Order: sequence, then C-alpha cells, then structure tokens
Amino acid sequence: MKKTLGSQNCLYPMPTTIVGAKVNGKPNYITIAWLGTLNADTVFIASNSSHYTNEGIKALKTFSINIPSEDMVKKVDYIGMVSGKNVDKSKLFTAFYGKLKNAPMIEECMVNMECEVTQILNMDTHEIFVARIVETYCNEEYLTNWNVDLAKLRPLLFSMYDTGYWQLGNRVATAWNVGREFKIEE
Ligand SMILES: Cc1cc2nc3c(=O)[nH]c(=O)nc-3n(C[C@H](O)[C@H](O)[C@H](O)COP(=O)(O)O)c2cc1C
Repeated sequence: MKKTLGSQNCLYPMPTTIVGAKVNGKPNYITIAWLGTLNADTVFIASNSSHYTNEGIKALKTFSINIPSEDMVKKVDYIGMVSGKNVDKSKLFTAFYGKLKNAPMIEECMVNMECEVTQILNMDTHEIFVARIVETYCNEEYLTNWNVDLAKLRPLLFSMYDTGYWQLGNRVATAWNVGREFKIEE
C-alpha cells in the first residue's frame, strides 16, 4: 500500500560537487548538491542567497563545478559546513585557472567544469545560477575513449533521505539501445 509523504523531493541521489568561485580576490569553495543539467552545455546550481560564494559569482559571473571522489568525503563535508565569511577556505585545494581566468578549479578533483553565468534567478531562499560550460578538464587516467569513466572516477553521491554520502553502483545497460529488447505484451 502506498503511503503519502507530503511534498517530499525524491530526486536523490544527486552528485556531490564542489563549486569554486573567486570572492574578494581569493578562491572560495562550497559543497553543492542542488544542481542540474538544462541542456548539453548549460547547467544550473542553486545556492542559498546568504552564502559567501554567491557574492563572488555575482561579481565575476563565473564559477567552476568540480567532481570530488569518495576519498575526499571529509573535506567535502567540511566545506559544506563552514562559510568563507568566517573561515579562509582558499588554501584547502590547489587552484588552477582556465579560459575564464577567474573561475578557480580544483587540481585534486578529477573533473572540472569552467562555467560562465548567463542568467540569475532569484527564488525565496536560493539564487539559481544558470551557466554555460566553457571548458571541461579531466585527468587522463580517468578517461576511457575520451569519455569520463565513472568506474575510475568513483563520484560521491548525496542523498537527502538519510543525509548520506553514497557510492555509485554497477552499470546496468546501454541507453537508447536496451529498449529495443522490450516487447509490448499482447
Ligand atoms: C552535502 C552537502 C550539500 C550541500 N548542497 C548545497 C546546495 O546545493 N545549495 C546550497 O545553497 N548549500 C548547500 N550546502 C551548504 C553549503 O555548502 C554550506 O552552507 C557552505 O558552508 C556555504 O559556504 P560559503 O558561505 O563559503 O559559500 C550543502 C552542504 C552539504 C554538506
């Protein structure tokens, strides 16, 4: 029997990411799990309007999305608990810069996306930064046939149900392909 849960958002797991932005001249890092894809090269992040990171994103219209692996979990969680308003998070990683010059990316994360803000939407609690991915960087050893290999990457997943960090499971099938085996029963 189905139970009703109220208006519970059940879109978990989400990837756990570290967003980097330059704020007042220094890199600042924030853990972000509320983010998503709008089309092939357009993404968004939802960041509470009170966050220190937002100041830098609004000023420079750039940020980076970095994908940490499981072994970075303690640092990821720490970044998600302390604000750049009180703690200098700039030295927690080795920053590198790409085409946009002002989006600090994290050397220690195996995948980095450099993003240029195209729209800012103001919601009650959060600012939604819509951005175009200008360039993506990946350590060579995490690629298979020039694609990011999730088995090598071991991304950290996040669930709000149990406020848990989770591991990725196994590959199930090939998309736009396995459906050919489906037959409608007469
Ligand atoms: C797993 C995890 C996911 C988080 N996801 C988000 C998110 O998507 N949006 C958000 O506004 N804050 C999120 N936070 C909270 C911020 O990371 C946290 O408040 C951070 O300290 C803000 O840093 P800042 O003030 O330096 O920008 C998350 C925290 C954790 C631990």
